[in-house]
Amino acid sequence: MQTLFINIKELLQVREHSIEKVSGEAMKLLPKIDNAYLLIENDRIADFGPMENCPSLPNAKIMDARDRVILPTWADSHTHIVFAGNRIQEFVDRINGLSYEEIASRGGGILNSAKRLNETSEDELYAQSEVRLQEIMQQGTGAVEIKSGYGLTVEGELKMLRVIKRLKSNYPIAIKATFLGAHAFPIEFKENHSGYLQLLIDEMLPKIATENLADFIDAFLETGYFSIEESELIMEAGKKYGLIPKIHVNQFTAIGGIKACVAKGALTVDHLEIITDEDIMALQNSQTMPVALPSCSYFISIPYTPARKLIDSGLPLALATDYNPGTSPSGNMNFVVATACIKMKMTPEEAINAATINGAYAMGISATHGTITKGKRANLIVTKPINSYYQLPYSFGTNLIEKVMIEGQFI
Ligand code: NIG
Ligand code: FE
Repeated sequence: MQTLFINIKELLQVREHSIEKVSGEAMKLLPKIDNAYLLIENDRIADFGPMENCPSLPNAKIMDARDRVILPTWADSHTHIVFAGNRIQEFVDRINGLSYEEIASRGGGILNSAKRLNETSEDELYAQSEVRLQEIMQQGTGAVEIKSGYGLTVEGELKMLRVIKRLKSNYPIAIKATFLGAHAFPIEFKENHSGYLQLLIDEMLPKIATENLADFIDAFLETGYFSIEESELIMEAGKKYGLIPKIHVNQFTAIGGIKACVAKGALTVDHLEIITDEDIMALQNSQTMPVALPSCSYFISIPYTPARKLIDSGLPLALATDYNPGTSPSGNMNFVVATACIKMKMTPEEAINAATINGAYAMGISATHGTITKGKRANLIVTKPINSYYQLPYSFGTNLIEKVMIEGQFI
């Protein structure tokens, strides 16, 4: 089955050879072809180039993309889309003056979601989560990472990860699963941290490994949550089962966590709203990808990750939604890209690189996703008629997506 897009106004993120990620100055470059064609064969990108070289293929399905931009689908490397219920009341409480941390210290926040999740059946959880997965695919996401972390019990964590596994087998979108048992200490372990770590390491992890339920391991390394030492134990334990660390760190305080994550070979460090020069030095010359989550900053009114400082220090940066009920009840990567440009002063080129190839790297899938390269998965966003790709962040509240193709099929 062949699909041939012709007359594409701008074909973005075109890379002759597969790349892993882009860093620093290179993030300013977003290679594109004006007036292009793009050939899809089955679920793969087969060929592309300027219209003057367009092959004539009588059996291909022809799609005229005049006035439209085509780019790779978004790679959202950090979400918590498997959750039960909502936290609308906490949202209103914050409007009325409480902070995220105050709400959490009163037993709200993550523990609120955990209580709800443990009362919800696996089928009901699947049904609620599937709606969100369908929603983000419509919004142009073609690969997504999903975390556990609202169970905080053996059964609850397994339930979440089994739901992720079911989503994986029922949907064409690439899904990576992350075990985040270390999201918060349950109340009964508030004064017994080592007891919870034991449960996590000796009970949860072996079961997760036996059922092959996770690709990565995460912890909320933060003042009042998991200390550096506790997070190091968790990273080490995960690695024994082949789970690479992807860590929540530096959301509210900088306590040296980034250096510890880099030393443990973390694939990503996520949030980084608060960051020191030592944190930046730790990331330089490492393979660890910093990940910014601007919808979280927007929603709970905390600082934006200093993207300029990171990129101008030569580092790469990925952008993700953090879709979750507490700090970012939105999985819209178009909003993330626009907010990165508007509030973090990333150029459109940097933001699109961060949301495609660097997002793919942040899930370990940049060999198959994140660029328009021959042999890669046919995962495409086709826009409505627009002036140029600058309009994607410019018209930030408008849905500019006409069609989304995942694995060669329009969804
Ligand atoms: O990435 N910071 C930790 N975890 C989530 C929020 C969890 C919640 O509030 O439910 C985050 O922001
Ligand atoms: Fe998160």
